[in-house]
Amino acid sequence: MASQAAGYNVAVVGATGAVGREFLRIAEARDFPIKSLRLLASARSAGSRLRFRGEYLQVEETGDDSFRGIDLAFISATTEASRHYALIAVAAGAVAIDDSSAFRMDPNVPLVVPEVNAGDLRRDRRLVAIPNCSTTPLVMALAPLHRANPLTRVVVSTYQSVSGTGTAAMQELTNQTKQALDGGHPESEVYPHQIAFNLLAQIDDFLDNGYTKEEWKMVQETRKIMHEPELPVSSTCVRVPVYVCHSEAVHAEFRDPITPERVRELLSVQPGVELDEPGRPESWHHPVQAAGQDAVYVSRIRRDVSHPSSVAFWLVSDNLRKGAALNAIQIAESMAERDLF
Ligand code: A2P
Repeated sequence: MASQAAGYNVAVVGATGAVGREFLRIAEARDFPIKSLRLLASARSAGSRLRFRGEYLQVEETGDDSFRGIDLAFISATTEASRHYALIAVAAGAVAIDDSSAFRMDPNVPLVVPEVNAGDLRRDRRLVAIPNCSTTPLVMALAPLHRANPLTRVVVSTYQSVSGTGTAAMQELTNQTKQALDGGHPESEVYPHQIAFNLLAQIDDFLDNGYTKEEWKMVQETRKIMHEPELPVSSTCVRVPVYVCHSEAVHAEFRDPITPERVRELLSVQPGVELDEPGRPESWHHPVQAAGQDAVYVSRIRRDVSHPSSVAFWLVSDNLRKGAALNAIQIAESMAERDLF
């Protein structure tokens, strides 16, 4: 796969984070061709060690010099870190794959889910963005349907796990659950309200139009990836007390009538999507079962009784994997296959 015989010199910014650690696990499991690996984070974890291919590698503080000699930089830290380091990595000659919202809507930056729009990857686009972890599974399910019967409207509600916020949020869910079960008062630091035994109908800040930034990302990113700048999309994003996996209830309207059977047929041949078995509720997908898996799981496909050419379905996907690290590695693999590095 690699044009460089022995593989790539890879840097991971945010290597100690929830997505960064997943990136290392997936790169190892898929045998991504890595010649050298530089683990980067903030000064807080400089000197700590992470295991990769049986060896313990030392984490370094990220600096402007960190990208010398690097072919591929994966950045999943903070938006500010992305803003600063992505361009430095590209200037140093690397392809930078960025997990933040900093560049996603930049017309010069491809925003890519390889199963949907790998054609947007180009040799002269050295900075590539990956979508928000709730957008990726949505477009994985919508794109093959849209190719067969154009979408006219999408309404989606999300049930997003705390790992989407990062390691500190996962710890907060654990702490609050213990505090609540012990009869104490759960303390909130990461989220504005208690997340244990609760739902938060706000992810990120509110915009003037009443949507949150997270909801608006889903609208804009879906349009960009699907090359449909006017596609009507509306979303409600909710944080739920689940550690890993985002779930989504999707209502999709099409130009022409479409049956659940046709949707099933189209999705059954979409790489990266797995379906339930019709009529077998025990085969419907849940976060606990989908965590640690690569697929986007689609179940409960049914006719939307409120509209003649609309279907409804449920999807679940590991937000750290297909929603982030796996998608990034697939982009790198796709670029390597087509000699775009
Ligand atoms: P650190 O472990 O040193 O804090 P998560 O999303 O799980 O919270 O992880 C965030 C990741 O981003 C961590 O690896 C964290 O490193 C890293 N990080 C945070 N701020 C910076 C920064 N300014 N420069 C580089 N890495 C950063």
